Amino acid sequence: MSKRILITGGTGFIGSKLIDGWLLDGHDITLLTRRPKWIPERWIGKVTAVSEFSDINVSAQDKGESSGIDWVINLAGEGIADARWTPKRKQALRDSRVGLTQRLARWADSTNQQFEAVLSGSAVGYYGSVDGIWPTFSETSAAGTDFSASLCIDWEHAAKGLNDRTKRLVLLRTGIVLGEHGGMLKRMRLPFKLGLGGVIGSGQQVISWIHRDDYCRAINYLLASDLTGPVNMTAPTPVSNREFTASLATTLHRPALFPMPSVAAKLIFGELSELLLKGQNVSPTVLSQAGFDFKYPNLGQALEETMRLW
Ligand SMILES: NC(=O)c1ccc[n+]([C@@H]2O[C@H](COP(=O)([O-])OP(=O)(O)OC[C@H]3O[C@@H](n4cnc5c(N)ncnc54)[C@H](OP(=O)(O)O)[C@@H]3O)[C@@H](O)[C@H]2O)c1
Repeated sequence: MSKRILITGGTGFIGSKLIDGWLLDGHDITLLTRRPKWIPERWIGKVTAVSEFSDINVSAQDKGESSGIDWVINLAGEGIADARWTPKRKQALRDSRVGLTQRLARWADSTNQQFEAVLSGSAVGYYGSVDGIWPTFSETSAAGTDFSASLCIDWEHAAKGLNDRTKRLVLLRTGIVLGEHGGMLKRMRLPFKLGLGGVIGSGQQVISWIHRDDYCRAINYLLASDLTGPVNMTAPTPVSNREFTASLATTLHRPALFPMPSVAAKLIFGELSELLLKGQNVSPTVLSQAGFDFKYPNLGQALEETMRLW
């Protein structure tokens, strides 16, 4: 059945794939974006673009009827790895996630929305980062204490402001999403293709990854389910950085001979190097127990498919 969907961050690496799929399924999409003029070029009049929540047409609400928005998917956020984590950059990362989610909740309150489901962004960084494989984190694990963790905690807290406005609130604790033409692989592909890739730091830090097709399939699975609360959006087979490096090099038929020592990563990236030198071993417990069927449970297959489409 066709739904009216509101998405933030829908122009991004993940969101644009979601929208492509929803359009094929005949859903009605409203997209919050800072660049509404770009949308007609991408989706030729099929998506309603707004630059403020207050621009969303909820006129039926004034007459005491439903505004018609069924599902909200909240993915907006400045790129976490796009720049060094200066105090100003950290504030931008917070404002674009926590601030925007607070604005969404205020708009939902002021217009008296009642959604079927809200799926709101978070990340596996919620659990904090370690250099090694222990511990394994499931959705019931405690939060960490570093910057990424505090960002996710506050982002999830802001989303909980929507609890009274929705039947279900799902918090998407997203791992590293793998897909063509974007995400982490966009940065790694060229150096690896040139044979300049290598292990980062100890190589023992764990990458909890998910193929973008599975991510989008999981979103649609969650929308159709009655699940609620935090959901780890990761494949069932996290790998160490050393394994990831070897697998990517094999997929691209190149050697990976150039390790990046921890000290170099810290010098080049500052605090942001945490994202490279540390990781988290995350289990998709909720999705697995619910019976979600991963199309790409193994990294090799996921990388092969991604590189085939690049
Ligand atoms: N990709 C991953 O591996 C990964 C991993 C963990 C978590 N996540 C999270 O999942 C979400 C989507 O990821 P993605 O890879 O699709 O991200 P992306 O390609 O960087 O897209 C993010 C979107 O957020 C919007 N945005 C950026 N800065 C903003 C700002 N200052 N104010 C308002 N909106 C802003 C942009 O939309 P407009 O330009 O149209 O406004 C952009 O299209 C992000 O929040 C990210 O943190 C992603």
